[in-house]
Amino acid sequence: MIGRLNHVAIAVPDLAAAAAQYRDTLGAEVHAPQEEPDHGVTVVFIDLPNTKIELLHPLGEGSPIAGFLAKNPSGGIHHICYEVEDIHAARDQLVAKGARVLGDGTPKIGAHGKPVLFLHPRDFCGTLVELEQA
Ligand code: CO
Repeated sequence: MIGRLNHVAIAVPDLAAAAAQYRDTLGAEVHAPQEEPDHGVTVVFIDLPNTKIELLHPLGEGSPIAGFLAKNPSGGIHHICYEVEDIHAARDQLVAKGARVLGDGTPKIGAHGKPVLFLHPRDFCGTLVELEQA
């Protein structure tokens, strides 16, 4: 059911330092920071030949990644995102197999303007999984 790895999201305490490291040390193509107030994050997108990296930094009060950074002060992998063809069909299939979808199970529009859902990390090897309709 899952398709390509769309992105790996890494929460970082210092967005400018992390972007500089990916650009200058790792030689990646790093985009300008983008504020996503609806998601409570500022994102830096990094294009790799086969996928993307998203550096996430909290934006505003109650950011969903604030707690993660409190537990992981030097940052860490926050989630991975797999593409699916039909997000509603994917959700129904996963729920039927006992997986837990976060929130009320209704897809939301994600950082790329496409419908996304998140799956409970306890059901997937301790990893928060995002599904994005490609
Ligand atoms: Co994501």
